[in-house]
Amino acid sequence: MTIRAVVSSTGRYFPGRKVLNSHFYDDLGLETTEDWIVSRTGIRSRYYVDRDAGEATAAMATHAARQCLERAGLEPSDVDGILIATVTPDHSFPSTACLVQDSLGARGAFGWDTSAACSGFLFTLAQAASLVKSGMARRLLVVGSDTMSSILDFTDRQTCIIFGDGAGCFLVEAADDDAPGGELLDFVMHVDGSGGESLKMPAGGSRRPASAETVAQGLHFVHQDGRTVFKHAVKRMGEVIEELLARNGLTSDDIGLFIPHQANQRIILACSKRFKIPMERVMLTLEHWANTTAATLPTALDLALEQGRVQRGDYVVFATFGAGYTWGASLLRW
Ligand code: COA
Repeated sequence: MTIRAVVSSTGRYFPGRKVLNSHFYDDLGLETTEDWIVSRTGIRSRYYVDRDAGEATAAMATHAARQCLERAGLEPSDVDGILIATVTPDHSFPSTACLVQDSLGARGAFGWDTSAACSGFLFTLAQAASLVKSGMARRLLVVGSDTMSSILDFTDRQTCIIFGDGAGCFLVEAADDDAPGGELLDFVMHVDGSGGESLKMPAGGSRRPASAETVAQGLHFVHQDGRTVFKHAVKRMGEVIEELLARNGLTSDDIGLFIPHQANQRIILACSKRFKIPMERVMLTLEHWANTTAATLPTALDLALEQGRVQRGDYVVFATFGAGYTWGASLLRW
């Protein structure tokens, strides 16, 4: 019998500190304006963790996972594993998954982290689908959680404005034919490491360990060539959606909701135009939450479900692009 892998519950968490665009020009004195940020990105606010209170990636992931489990009526000990997508782990090791397993009290669960930047959640969801469909696991928590505020250079006006912190979680389970939820039908995934220079954190890893010099030069922050990333994001996301639809014999008319990675509203508009899907069927969350890297897709679906934007029988398409380069798309059916 074929085992189906289904998203049966979701959860999200945003930290308490809401940061408006005015923070950058009024408080930090950056040469930018409300009009520039809104017209060039679509972003009006984002949330940041309270670092003084020790809040970071694992704590946000734990909140999102708890909400997801509570909605499913399950205990943490009911899950077989915890898979986390992040580029801002609390530590290089132990993994964020280990910290979350402990803070949830998910006795008996295995877990690991995946690093694929903004594509991290989609790639991790593919791992979860494979584990469930192969029979190796029956019930998994899949979390995208990133504390981007911990790696931003708040003197770099092009970069610091576009990111926020947050976490989103899916419960992925083996399910019967008529079980409610979103069946994970297909994934297309790509990487192209030749794009690595356009978006990276240059130091703090094994090639250039953190030192007084690397910190003084700000090499432990996100560095990006925004214009180059923008062009690749539009092209690659467009291509991968076409690839996903073609191999499933679908067109944009068949898609109930398109949930793209939330980096820049202009990237989303360009992709949606190429994909020929009207904006009423496109999920936009970046106005309030900005780009939360691995958390954009699960938080967006969580909100879409809350708003009743996904009905039984609907196809949902995720598409993403991020540092690496990494990009991909996936198809779900409710
Ligand atoms: N406020 C005011 N002006 C700004 C600014 C800001 N916050 N940031 C950049 N500018 C200026 C630039 O210095 C440049 O000025 P110049 O023409 O005098 O040199 C001008 O605006 C245009 O810069 P450009 O880099 O072409 O802007 P843009 O329209 O491409 O927007 C990004 C910059 C970063 C918002 C946009 O490129 C982007 O979103 N790229 C994708 C980034 C991304 O997705 N990263 C994460 C990947 S998941």
